[in-house]
Amino acid sequence: MSDATILFHEWQQLRALRKRFLEGSASKQDYWESLRLLELYDQTFAERIAWKWQYVLLQLHRLRWQPPTSAVLDWGCGTGIASRTFLRAFALPDVRLTLYDRSALAVKFAEQKHREVFPHISLLPFNDTAFQGVVLLSHIITELSPQDLDALLQRLRAAAAILWVESGEYHTSRKLIDVREQLRSDFHVVAPCTHQGRCGLLAEENAPHWCHHFAHVPQAAFTEKRWSEFKARIGIDLSQLPLSYLVLDKRAIPLLPRLSSRLIGGTRLYKGYAAVLACTEQGVAEYHLSQRHFPQVYRQIKKGEADTLVSMQTEQGKVVHLESLAVQEMRKA
Ligand SMILES: C[S@@+](CC[C@H](N)C(=O)[O-])C[C@H]1O[C@@H](n2cnc3c(N)ncnc32)[C@H](O)[C@@H]1O
Repeated sequence: MSDATILFHEWQQLRALRKRFLEGSASKQDYWESLRLLELYDQTFAERIAWKWQYVLLQLHRLRWQPPTSAVLDWGCGTGIASRTFLRAFALPDVRLTLYDRSALAVKFAEQKHREVFPHISLLPFNDTAFQGVVLLSHIITELSPQDLDALLQRLRAAAAILWVESGEYHTSRKLIDVREQLRSDFHVVAPCTHQGRCGLLAEENAPHWCHHFAHVPQAAFTEKRWSEFKARIGIDLSQLPLSYLVLDKRAIPLLPRLSSRLIGGTRLYKGYAAVLACTEQGVAEYHLSQRHFPQVYRQIKKGEADTLVSMQTEQGKVVHLESLAVQEMRKA
């Protein structure tokens, strides 16, 4: 968020925008009424979305994933925050970027921002061939009708890779799980899943759960006046930033070690143990992690700092071995 003052009526505009997003009425019509509204969004909501992208890109970095091509499409780009964050994370040569949105004003704004930040990239007009590159999708799924989503998925089958980031709410995560099921025969699933099979959350007993994760919220969100004003004016709790995401790649990907597991959702802490929800090839299930046996992991979970990609062994519902895959890799190196 920049330090430029946001006026009283502009906060009202941002509140109205958020109401649209929450009510699901954002799908009905183009709501980008002015470049100023795009600027306001870019300084506030989009910045939080960038934190979610940074989290996802860090997970990809840990998996040593690199983009398969420098051709990038940001579909439903809004102000272009997804592609700006993506391009900052990878030093790609000869970037060819296409920005697409149903709002011509949004595309204009996003193109302008990109030209300021990355003067050397080529901006290409949108057409169907743009789907053959790396396709970025961000906070779009709730704005698409079932027909629009179907049409989009058909075109996404051409992609070299897909990076899709959404809010961490139940219904958005569940939609993204549907997307995974529809596309997984054409792609390899890179993250967050540790396997290529059917999503374990689709099992009947897992209906109450959803696949969500928590992005790191930078210190600025708690110390800077502009964020405390945002919190007060918009009424958003800044302390937690849940998200759901999906990364697919046409290329074969390295297999993860046999005991790999992804911890998902918010872990519940009890006296002496944590209840962790773990996703493996065998399915999604809850396990108890003893504070006495895993004091460090328990502490990390409490602080929201635990790695979610782990090597884990369980016996009778209890965790008997757990180690971050990143730590395991470091030990091997
Ligand atoms: C919540 S905004 C997210 C913007 C951006 N991707 C981000 O993460 O900040 C959703 C965007 O999707 C666009 N959009 C909605 N329906 C669309 C459609 N059918 N085709 C293309 N863009 C669409 C909207 O105009 C808006 O810019």
